Amino acid sequence: MQLPLLPVFTTISLLFGINTAPTLDVAPKTVVLQGHKLLERRTKLVNNRAGPKLQAAFERLEREANHLLDKGPWSVTDKKHRAPGAGIHDYSSMAKYYWPTNGGCPYVYRDGHPNPERLNYTDHAERGYMFNSSYTLSLAWYYTGDEKYARQAAKVLRNWFILKEKRMNPSINWAGFIPCQHGGTFYGIIDWSEGYTMVLDAVAILESTKAPHWTKHDIAEFKKWNTQFLHWLDTSEFGKNESAARNNHGIWALQLRAGIALFLGKHREAKRIAEEAKHRVNAQITPGGEQPEELKRSASFQYSAFALTAFTRLAMIARHPGVKVDLWRYKGPKGQSIQKAVDYLIPAATEGKKRWHHSGPVKRYEAKGVIHWAASVGNKKAKKAVDDVPAPPWGDLWPVRPAPDLM
Ligand SMILES: *[C@@H]1O[C@H](CO)[C@@H](O)[C@H](O)[C@H]1NC(C)=O
Ligand SMILES: *[C@@H]1O[C@H](CO)[C@@H](O)[C@H](O)[C@H]1NC(C)=O
Ligand SMILES: *[C@@H]1O[C@H](CO)[C@@H](O)[C@H](O)[C@H]1NC(C)=O
Repeated sequence: MQLPLLPVFTTISLLFGINTAPTLDVAPKTVVLQGHKLLERRTKLVNNRAGPKLQAAFERLEREANHLLDKGPWSVTDKKHRAPGAGIHDYSSMAKYYWPTNGGCPYVYRDGHPNPERLNYTDHAERGYMFNSSYTLSLAWYYTGDEKYARQAAKVLRNWFILKEKRMNPSINWAGFIPCQHGGTFYGIIDWSEGYTMVLDAVAILESTKAPHWTKHDIAEFKKWNTQFLHWLDTSEFGKNESAARNNHGIWALQLRAGIALFLGKHREAKRIAEEAKHRVNAQITPGGEQPEELKRSASFQYSAFALTAFTRLAMIARHPGVKVDLWRYKGPKGQSIQKAVDYLIPAATEGKKRWHHSGPVKRYEAKGVIHWAASVGNKKAKKAVDDVPAPPWGDLWPVRPAPDLM
């Protein structure tokens, strides 16, 4: 008889808050996160050997996941406003820093001044909720084995990518549109490149653990969507221009394409993109670790950390078996490197604005993730500094999801 087993199992689950189902004891085939690190942390949590930092991060993750159980699901079809020409299934957003002149056309660029008018175009916010919640819920499923998290993650993903009447078209032709002009802009692709690899990791966790509720049909459809999306990114004029950009935009686009390629098992393509990133290190980071294109921005500390989040996430993708491009130790001909660029942020990240001689505010926590990354690959300055950099307001989730987060 099956029934009597149930209460026993539930009691165990309640006692430890952790399901010990065997399919969960695997290293997920994630693309940015390292699966074996997730498994190592899960094993500690299951065996009650988590130290205080891991335990606190786990509890924070669980709280966040609980809060997300009754949120969403979201879809591009929810929108009330869209760029002229965009269909209801097309992702559409307004460029962040454009303002009307005399209340009308043309709209002009004002760096550092986000226009609230953009908030009327809700696809941008909803894609953020979808990115974050699928990531948090999948991780909560992985660590607790409580299927309510897998169910909600699957619901959120299915609503955005799979259901015919809801799903988004796998292209981004109407992002970052500027009112009074027709069509989107290629740099609107950043809306996706800056966060989408979290979704890939979320799905990889569900698939690697054979999560309930994420069906064979979902798996096949999600793969198809990503194959089409990658093709669009690789071949469209927008996609090519965004990848060619010589600032944070280009690195984010490379990170996005390499992540999708790895997810789809296209290792040669992921490798080619990771090799291309070496040229970007040479061109965009000085031997002293400055990133001149980001230092030009009015929020120069934020943008330096933001570009490095892309570089470091790409370095993590490149580290996976099948890709194996060593970006985390790569040095350009003049000694340029990603680690140098992290080092450059450390004085301000530990001591604040008085150690930053460029424009804009210094929110020290914005560098926390990339300093965590540098410490994890053995950078001595970063190891020394990491505990002196404050956690972001939502808390330090590095122990349960060890990759630089978007701040
Ligand atoms: C949002 O759209 C509404 C309706 O079109 C408009 O009245 C309002 O001014 C817009 N909000 C902003 C911040 O522009
Ligand atoms: C998603 O989470 C990040 C922190 O990981 C936060 O900065 C961001 O504001 C969140 N976005 C949304 C739309 O909630
Ligand atoms: C893409 O870049 C090319 C070459 O710089 C440029 O001629 C073209 O106008 C750009 N396309 C778009 C859509 O901005």
